[in-house]
Amino acid sequence: MERPRNAQEIRALKGVRRQTWITAYDYPQAAMAEASGIDVILVGDSLGMTTLGYANTLPVTLEDMIHHASAVRRGAPNSCIIVDMPFLTYTTPLEAVVHAGRILQHCQVEGVKLEGGRRIAAQVEALVNEAIPVVGHLGLTPQSVHRFGGYRVQARQAEAIATLIEDAERLCEAGVSAIVLEGIPDRVASYVTDRIPVPTIGIGAGRGTDGQVLVFHDCIGLSERLPKFVSPFAQARATIVEGLTRYRDAVLTGSFPDDAHSYHLSEQEWERFMKEFDGKA
Ligand code: KIV
Repeated sequence: MERPRNAQEIRALKGVRRQTWITAYDYPQAAMAEASGIDVILVGDSLGMTTLGYANTLPVTLEDMIHHASAVRRGAPNSCIIVDMPFLTYTTPLEAVVHAGRILQHCQVEGVKLEGGRRIAAQVEALVNEAIPVVGHLGLTPQSVHRFGGYRVQARQAEAIATLIEDAERLCEAGVSAIVLEGIPDRVASYVTDRIPVPTIGIGAGRGTDGQVLVFHDCIGLSERLPKFVSPFAQARATIVEGLTRYRDAVLTGSFPDDAHSYHLSEQEWERFMKEFDGKA
């Protein structure tokens, strides 16, 4: 099957083939993601850490998401793009609809992602009723970092596993098109994947999900520190730092810019300038 163009096509990939997601936060990242053939671009609120230098996702605003998602749309005009709703922008169904509506109207993207289970089921129903596609997010949901007391793997006890499964089923009843499963044991993720009718997209959730998402910077080795579950597919940070160091050295030693990378003037025009204008200005 071709790359999905919308949330319905994301949903339809369940049981057909695995799907690939990547985050992106700006125009060039989005263009590279589209060029790679990855299925879905997620404008994650991990923007807060990867791009804005915050310690976590909580300071990210709706305006930040709209600003960056608009750039991602321009960079990836042919991709299916899902945008995270930031912390405290979906505490009621009405708030969720108003804010998600702004994201869809301004950014022309295909859907939004919300963190949480039964707690946000009414919000998901309200969004789906207004024809706004929704992706869910369960497990280690970063907007709840203070409830978890840190970024800790979730669903490690039987009760917590049962709660996660009920949350996933409730989100499906509410109408989500897919569910991101983050930071949970692999066998729990596989079990949920077998139980629910929509695709599960894993991150730190093992190999048994219907798809995989990674943070752009982690995927290509741009991040300074990597989570345990990521093995980078490129060494972009080392490549970039090496390039910048070579540039600095070339300028300091005078080997850059050289003749081949300079603009030149004819001898004749230079002589005319010297004769007619030198010292007269
Ligand atoms: O914000 C984000 O990048 C995410 C992914 C980690 C799933 O939500």
